[in-house]
Amino acid sequence: MQEGVFKASGHLEGFSDWLVDCPGCKKRFRIDKLDKKGESEYQCPECKEIINTQKNKPRQFNLMLKTNMSATEDEPYYAYLRPETAQGIFVNFINVLNTTNKKLPLGIAQIGKAFRNEVTTGSFVFRMKEFEQMEIEYFVNPADAASYYESWVRERFDFYINKIGLRKENLRLRKHEKDELAHYAKACTDIEFMFPFPAKDGSASGGCWSELEGIANRGDFDLSEHARVSKKDLMYFDSEKKEKFTPYVIEPSAGVDRTFFAVLSDAYHEEEVQGKTRVVLKIKPELAPYRVAVLPLLKNRPELVELAKNIFYDIKKRIPAIYNDTGAIGKLYRRQDEVGTPFCVTVDVDSLGDGCVTVRERDSMRQERVAKEKVFDFIEKGN
Ligand code: GAP
Repeated sequence: MQEGVFKASGHLEGFSDWLVDCPGCKKRFRIDKLDKKGESEYQCPECKEIINTQKNKPRQFNLMLKTNMSATEDEPYYAYLRPETAQGIFVNFINVLNTTNKKLPLGIAQIGKAFRNEVTTGSFVFRMKEFEQMEIEYFVNPADAASYYESWVRERFDFYINKIGLRKENLRLRKHEKDELAHYAKACTDIEFMFPFPAKDGSASGGCWSELEGIANRGDFDLSEHARVSKKDLMYFDSEKKEKFTPYVIEPSAGVDRTFFAVLSDAYHEEEVQGKTRVVLKIKPELAPYRVAVLPLLKNRPELVELAKNIFYDIKKRIPAIYNDTGAIGKLYRRQDEVGTPFCVTVDVDSLGDGCVTVRERDSMRQERVAKEKVFDFIEKGN
């Protein structure tokens, strides 16, 4: 988006990290991520040298990625890759309002790429320069903002448990202190997940509470600033109360990549089964790549393969399914356990006679004979 948008939003001025260089290993770190060891003293996480911020002065580093949209170098026209999807929504707010004739509260949601020039990327997909955000800007009457903020925090916390299936003990809420609030925020609560990073003391076990999503009360900061810079009226007229005001915005802002990471980490289990380790992804059926796998017990019996394929084609019309005959049955089960397939359907020689198949459930490994016509209903009920 063009520079003016980010001038108005405050990102040109305020969207930056304080970085400091370690005098020992010369690496650069975010000061807010270092362990404080004393007045103006921090410990380098790499070489353990003490970094004294009186001698090694921290410097501000803007996180936005800048590009030149102009055809010529001497007349530059600067634009920036968006650091959050939110700003597109703010500059379109009045178009959406006028074309839909909606009343407040009005929510506009967007999913898409965001870009930040992060210094310390890594920890799998936790922090990247290019990532995927899903944001809702929820426009409300300022008088209702505090209660909508509270209800969005609850709503979003419940979402991760009930809709995504994360374990409650791996989730917590953390309110931002006044001095850590983003430049636009009046209040913010993070939903944190126990990510499987090494703990702060360096031990590999234990994990680390880190942000999965933030819910902010952005007040009228963005609309007011865009109105001021663009000289456009971005106010809302409440025709019932006959009052005109700039809406406040409650913003649930989530990362797709971090959600994906949390789901994998939460669902990953290793179990002992008959002296061997079974890896199983206990993922919610709705999130599993396949809801069911159809497996013929013997692949050198054409009539058995044909029956298995017919069952597979029939189920595939309704739910994501996979057919696999590339190994012995034990191995095929393990592969499906690893990708979290909730049910396996095995077609054996008896199936040719009695028309029944074996349905195996992922978590309990319980097996049941089911008539082939009833397989779909059985699976749906089990979910
Ligand atoms: N509009 C508000 C906003 O962007 P944020 O806390 O900076 O707030 C929201 O980002 C979410 O985006 C985070 O909770 C996280 O899930 C995700 N996110 C932010 N920076 C990220 C990065 N560098 N890599 C992956 N995900 C990131």
